[in-house]
Amino acid sequence: MTTVSLTVNGRAVTAAIDPRTLLVQFLRENLRLTGTHVGCDTSQCGACVVHLDGKAVKSCTTLAVAVDGSSVTTIEGLASGDALHPMQEAFREHHGLQCGFCTPGMIMSAVDMVNRRGHHLDEKTIREDLDGNICRCTGYHNIVKAIAAGAEAMGRAGAPLRQAAE
Ligand code: FES
Ligand code: FES
Repeated sequence: MTTVSLTVNGRAVTAAIDPRTLLVQFLRENLRLTGTHVGCDTSQCGACVVHLDGKAVKSCTTLAVAVDGSSVTTIEGLASGDALHPMQEAFREHHGLQCGFCTPGMIMSAVDMVNRRGHHLDEKTIREDLDGNICRCTGYHNIVKAIAAGAEAMGRAGAPLRQAAE
C-alpha cells in the first residue's frame, strides 16, 4: 500500500491504496464519485475523462499515485450547488444525450475544449476535437449543438475557464 493525497472537487483527500490503483478506480471506489464512467479497456471511449490540474485526462490510463498532490475535478464538481454548469445546461437544453453513459466524459472534454479553443466553436472544430470521446447512442448531432451552445454560454456567464477546484 502507498499513500496518495489529492484535491478532488475542492476537497483534500488522502488514502492508502494499492500502487496499481487507477485514478478512475480511486474516484469511483474509494471516493464513490461514480459519475466518472468506464466504457472500454482500450483507452478509446472517453467516458472516464476528468480534469487534472485543469486539463482533460483519461482517468482509466492514469495511476492515482502518479498524480499525487494534484487537483482533480470530476463531473460532480462542475455544478455550483443546484445551478448546473453552462455546459451541463446546454446538454440538457439541446438533448445532447440519450442513455447518458458517455455524457460525463463528453461534458468534461467539452469544457476542456472551451478552455483550449475559446467560446466560439464551429462544427468542424468540435467534431475534430471530440475524437477521443465515443457515444453509442446519439449520432453526435445534438452533442455538437450542445457543445457549441455551451461554449457560448460559458462566455456569456463569464464562467471561469478553469474551475475553482482546479
Ligand atoms: S474508460 Fe477510459 S477511455 Fe474508455
Ligand atoms: S448517450 Fe448513450 S453512449 Fe452517449
